Amino acid sequence: MKAALLLSRAARAVVFTGAGVSAESGLATFRGAGGLWEGHRVEEVATPEAFARDPLLVWRFYAMRREQAKKAEPNPAHKAIAQLERLFPSLVVVTQNVDGLHQRAGSQRVLELHGSLWRIRCASCGRELGDDRVPLPELPPRCDACGGWQRPAVVWFGEPLPEAIFREAERACTEADVMLVVGTSGVVWPAAGLVEVAAACGAAIIEVNPEPSALAYLAAVQIPKKAGEALPALVERLEEVQGARA
Ligand code: APR
Repeated sequence: MKAALLLSRAARAVVFTGAGVSAESGLATFRGAGGLWEGHRVEEVATPEAFARDPLLVWRFYAMRREQAKKAEPNPAHKAIAQLERLFPSLVVVTQNVDGLHQRAGSQRVLELHGSLWRIRCASCGRELGDDRVPLPELPPRCDACGGWQRPAVVWFGEPLPEAIFREAERACTEADVMLVVGTSGVVWPAAGLVEVAAACGAAIIEVNPEPSALAYLAAVQIPKKAGEALPALVERLEEVQGARA
């Protein structure tokens, strides 16, 4: 398996993930049939304007997502990525996901480009804190410090990405020898641009996705399978290759 060989020769690796990595945990992806953006209009639930107009509607959408994510369990793909970190201590997971499943699977170095469902920020005073209560006692929740409405600390359309996290991700991508791109359509920027950065800086791109993504043209290897099948097999093969060498 070429992907395992590429990984076995690499010193630094990045795993870049999207909603597809959590699909086998039962969480809907965004695009395509049955996707979250089919059932909900982006501009009604995932923009700052939507929150200003109708915070309760926006919160109902995020309360639903928090409930689903809380019930979900990390799947074999998340677990294989956590296992990969044990083989590659320098591994960085750069995720567009907000569900926290990488961390629950045991990944230690996770850069959340689009924030987290499990953090809440006051839209008035900016105070941010972790909150994993499901359900929340009150919707929309109010800030204890100033009484303003709190919002999910996720990145909505039209908002910038958290700068320090993006910079750290960019650095990991410029240094990577290999980048695994898993379960993302690769159409949302600037996140998707990180794959171009990695490729331009010499990383071999391995795509794991049943459908080729918009970033497939950058891939040296494409694995057209579900992440929950492909990644455990890849980690197993890598262990064999490393074992054979030891
Ligand atoms: N294994 C691997 N990939 C899968 C699986 C699976 N089991 N199931 C679906 N996929 C792939 C799909 O083929 C698709 O390419 O996952 C991808 C999901 O794409 P999107 O729904 O567009 O999700 P994502 O790429 O994470 O979206 C990026 O857009 O809406 C915003 O902020 C949101 O972070 C999100 C961003």
